[in-house]
Amino acid sequence: MNADFRINGKILETQRLILRPFGQSDLEDFYEYASVAGVGEMAGWKHHESIEESQKIMDLFIGEDKVFAVCLKQNNKVIGSVGVEKYGLEDAFTEFKDYYGRELGYVLSKDYWGRGIMPEAVNAVIDYLFGELDYDFLICGYYSFNEQSKRVQEKCGFKPYRSLVMDTAMNTKEQGILNLMINPCKDIKLRFSHPETLIWE
Ligand SMILES: CC(C)(COP(=O)(O)OP(=O)(O)OC[C@H]1O[C@@H](n2cnc3c(N)ncnc32)[C@H](O)[C@@H]1OP(=O)(O)O)[C@@H](O)C(=O)NCCC(=O)NCCS
Repeated sequence: MNADFRINGKILETQRLILRPFGQSDLEDFYEYASVAGVGEMAGWKHHESIEESQKIMDLFIGEDKVFAVCLKQNNKVIGSVGVEKYGLEDAFTEFKDYYGRELGYVLSKDYWGRGIMPEAVNAVIDYLFGELDYDFLICGYYSFNEQSKRVQEKCGFKPYRSLVMDTAMNTKEQGILNLMINPCKDIKLRFSHPETLIWE
């Protein structure tokens, strides 16, 4: 099942990054990376057309308190985000009914691609959710065309779980892969449902 989650002021630190809640002063940084065509689209959402649109989304982030801003330590600039989202199809995927988890989603400013920044951020969130919050599992997905995101998930230790058609936030559908990670400190044996989409080995 989906675990309850709020950032609640939690700050995560890595070698190069600080992960913290979004605040109103992050608007320009957020708009700077979210308005670049072709970035959000890889994650299923349309790039922002105006700063007002970024403001609305950022207000949601602040209200819902489940999306970490990824900041560069050296200058406190927000260059991306990692969301601790609810996974979908909770009723269908009965293998998780006795276990707690969430789905991770992320995006990074195009200016910073290829430096291992997102794996560093995602690993910090995984360590927090498994190590401190004691989650049982995490899901992370990508659309099949998104090799870059596939690599992030492989590097962080996710394994292929399901192959299925997924909705995008642009009202389209895309073939995609859901990956899964079970908390390595727990001895969990899942009894999987829906074999027709299952690719777990
Ligand atoms: C996916 C994303 C977060 C990766 O972040 P990152 O910090 O660049 O990740 P990495 O540095 O580990 O690079 C991942 C892969 O991207 C590819 N890559 C690296 N630099 C690249 C560049 N400038 N352009 C295109 N691809 C590049 C490489 O294949 C790399 O894999 P490798 O380590 O095996 O060489 C980033 O590309 C992004 O924000 N994409 C758009 C949004 C998105 O796809 N979100 C995820 C939705 S599921």
